[in-house]
Amino acid sequence: MREVLEQEFSKVYGSSEGVRYFFAPGRVNLIGEHTDYNGGHVFPCALTIGTYAAVRERKDKKVNFYSVNLPDSGVIGIDLTEELKPTKALRWAAYPAGVIWAFAQKGMKLDHGFDILFNGNIPNSSGLSSSASIEVVTGFVLKSLYGFDVSGVDLALIGQYSENNFNGMNCGIMDQFAVSMGKKDCAIFLDCATLSFEYASVKLPDAKIVITNSKVKHHLVDSAYNDRRNESEEALKDLQKVCNIKTLGDLSNEEFDKNADAIKSPVCRKRAKHAVYENNRTIEAVKALADGDIKHFGELMNQSHISLRDDYEVSCEEIDVLVDSAWKQPGVLGSRITGGGFGGCTVSIVKNDCIDAFIENVGREYTEKTGETAEFYVVEIGDGPYEL
Ligand code: GLA
Repeated sequence: MREVLEQEFSKVYGSSEGVRYFFAPGRVNLIGEHTDYNGGHVFPCALTIGTYAAVRERKDKKVNFYSVNLPDSGVIGIDLTEELKPTKALRWAAYPAGVIWAFAQKGMKLDHGFDILFNGNIPNSSGLSSSASIEVVTGFVLKSLYGFDVSGVDLALIGQYSENNFNGMNCGIMDQFAVSMGKKDCAIFLDCATLSFEYASVKLPDAKIVITNSKVKHHLVDSAYNDRRNESEEALKDLQKVCNIKTLGDLSNEEFDKNADAIKSPVCRKRAKHAVYENNRTIEAVKALADGDIKHFGELMNQSHISLRDDYEVSCEEIDVLVDSAWKQPGVLGSRITGGGFGGCTVSIVKNDCIDAFIENVGREYTEKTGETAEFYVVEIGDGPYEL
């Protein structure tokens, strides 16, 4: 990859002298979906695919962005002496520019600029966090080039801050945290209410994580995401009239069932049920994994999908075809939608000797039923950001 970056950098910026190379991963969430902004737990892991950056400092106050994935946008420049705003002209560069803006908001201003080139191998808009990946690699570049004293958790929080406030997507902390704090062969058991976390070794004897990309992304994803957040919040307010809780993540399933009638709107009641049950399911799943009970872990993944489909209503026809098909295949321990939803990817745990048949059968059934072509990635769990 280094040679490719070097060549591309030279093509765009003249030479590759003095260039430094960085990487931040994408992520896949194994279980714990739409629980992060509800004060619950998540269980994601970083991938070995992600976003590479080649960067060289400049003496002046200009920052230039270029993406090998989006060559038609050309070089997009900003001037550090001007106020940074999320304008249309920034296009995709609103993600890295937002991180520069967020650093400045936190008192870390750049006194000179740089030229940067990105090259990512995460499929865009697929629910594998290509945006968190570019945010975190940018933050890591700033830390490395300018010597800012920021931890991995800070980088995650800054990435989320920029996405919420510069890019207008009201995401939780999961994606940036998973990307920034990733560790090879481990998933991160994160309590999103406190940000306390543990690494859990993902030992899958004779099985692998297989991601299936539906290649569909439905419109209004961001607004539907924000609707879910509002509905969860409304449910929480109703519950707080009868329970002493800060977040939906504070409730056991039994406590929820006892008090669910306090939630006036039936839709908000379903949303809250998902958030509460999914959080408790995630805690149970992490315990099952630690006990070596992969079978139970897989069953909980399946339950997670049903809850996301029926109660949280963030699945879609194409994803349900993939999951239904996966559930029928031999050697599949569990399969569910992963990420924000409304398209994107599924994550499955599949026995090694069944992976080829899985890809063939699910791929065929998907095309027969939807006319779309799915993509499959047999993935490894990788580290957080690093310099190459
Ligand atoms: C998106 C958001 C995350 C999280 C997931 C759903 O990926 O960025 O914060 O809410 O959806 O679990």
